[in-house]
Amino acid sequence: MIATPDQQKRAAAREAALLVETGMYLGLGTGSTVEYFLDALSERIKAESLSITCVATSLVTERRAAELGIGVVPLSGMLDLAIDGADEVEFGTLHLIKGLGGALLREKQIAESARQFVVIADESKLVRRLGERTPLPVEIVDFAVERTIARIGDIGLPGVLRMSDAATPYRTDNGNRIVDCTMAVAMTPPVLEATLKTIAGVVETGLFTHGCAAAIIGMTDGSTRRFD
Ligand code: A5P
Repeated sequence: MIATPDQQKRAAAREAALLVETGMYLGLGTGSTVEYFLDALSERIKAESLSITCVATSLVTERRAAELGIGVVPLSGMLDLAIDGADEVEFGTLHLIKGLGGALLREKQIAESARQFVVIADESKLVRRLGERTPLPVEIVDFAVERTIARIGDIGLPGVLRMSDAATPYRTDNGNRIVDCTMAVAMTPPVLEATLKTIAGVVETGLFTHGCAAAIIGMTDGSTRRFD
């Protein structure tokens, strides 16, 4: 039997929930896979009376956690563990593309603050080369948007402004905009990440090239595989 993408996400999420220990300061990511993680976490909290302190990467996650009785606090200091989804996971390097859900800035702040940053995903997210299946989201300030998009295009990343509907540009939790870029560039992901950050107006990129300790992937055969 072939596991559906939702079954793969749920399997990866349940495995990641087993990494949580009582007393931990925990980062909660954003996205559909993280929603399964929150369900599994809440079951463990109730069944085992775990005491954990959580930080959320988005308002959506904060609301879902609250519905499950999981409170969140502001980020302060180092987290023991952060669990998040990804849009692409590069096989071999564990470089990531994140941000199709728009939460990339807080996701990166939390990933950088975690002693252990673990990604959970279904098998479709595993790629040989970043940019194969998704655009690269880049968060930019809401000023001189066209200029910033043009500058990003100059380094080989043509992009389009993400829209909420035909007339309204998408706005992140931080009040910024997102440009979804095609990775038509030969730079390696760490160099590309650093180069993008030199452009005035770029707040953060969806390239995560440091610090992913492990990826737990739900496979189509129903198993989970951990890549370190
Ligand atoms: C949110 O901004 C993203 O980085 C998500 O972590 C990513 O899109 C994964 O989402 P799914 O688990 O829904 O695929």
